[in-house]
Amino acid sequence: MAMAVTTMEPTPRETVVKISAQDVSFFYGNHQALKDISVDVQANKVTAFIGPSGCGKSTFLRCLNRMNDLIDGTRMEGSITLDGHDIYAPDVDPVELRKEVGMVFQKPNPFPMSIYDNVTYGPKIHGIKDKSKLDHVVEDCLKKAALWDEVKDKLKQSALALSGGQQQRLCIARTIAVDPKIILMDEPCSALDPIATSKIEDLIDELKHEYTIVIVTHNMQQAQRASDFTAFFMLGNLVEFNNTADIFLFPQKKETEDYISGRFG
Ligand SMILES: Nc1ncnc2c1ncn2[C@@H]1O[C@H](COP(=O)(O)OP(=O)(O)OP(=O)(O)O)[C@@H](O)[C@H]1O
Ligand SMILES: [Mg+2]
Repeated sequence: MAMAVTTMEPTPRETVVKISAQDVSFFYGNHQALKDISVDVQANKVTAFIGPSGCGKSTFLRCLNRMNDLIDGTRMEGSITLDGHDIYAPDVDPVELRKEVGMVFQKPNPFPMSIYDNVTYGPKIHGIKDKSKLDHVVEDCLKKAALWDEVKDKLKQSALALSGGQQQRLCIARTIAVDPKIILMDEPCSALDPIATSKIEDLIDELKHEYTIVIVTHNMQQAQRASDFTAFFMLGNLVEFNNTADIFLFPQKKETEDYISGRFG
């Protein structure tokens, strides 16, 4: 019988590719918004997409959970895999995919219902009816979203009565309530003040232990603080993709250097 091997040192977590995009091009009608984008998103890391307005960040983010399928007249080329499986394969149900790959938007968009009902909305659609189970989901997700202490005594109140920053954390709680593997965030802090922003950044740091996170941001400090990897886009091209420290300290391309130093964008 083999001896159990114990070690005092924590083994470093291997890097695992969660999402792999290869040569992705995307068209709105005749307009090509993305040109041959290849990016590997690592599991349990935060990957930031940065670049000037209109460069294709949101378009690429939406390719990762097939949200662009909902826009008429669009076409994608190339391949995107999640855990090695083609997410555009004919047998993939986009609704199921979006359960695995959740999304948080720029403007907090809680449903016009109670805090409790916002969090249980997804789980109920997916068939969970048991009250104690739902209660547990609500507490668990609000805790993970760092909102529980602020709302535990008013779960039946309207979500719309929360502050913008609280609403955004509620939207994160609602997203994680359906147990995704990946959370996509499109400028999640752009409507928030610095304190609410810093809470979301702390939260992102916590959530990456359990989820893989991709965040679009216009805020260079935020990309530096919150992400492990950064992809810089310009005019539909991926100019540079590297670990965040290298992108900001040793950009390889002049366009990257100009953008991160605020010379344009
Ligand atoms: N629904 C749409 N229909 C047609 N063209 C679109 C659509 N959405 C985006 N585009 C075009 O695709 C290009 C990329 O847009 P996208 O929204 O991905 O940029 P972005 O980098 O997210 O910009 P921003 O920083 O302003 O949010 C732009 O030229 C834009 O005009
Ligand atoms: Mg955008």
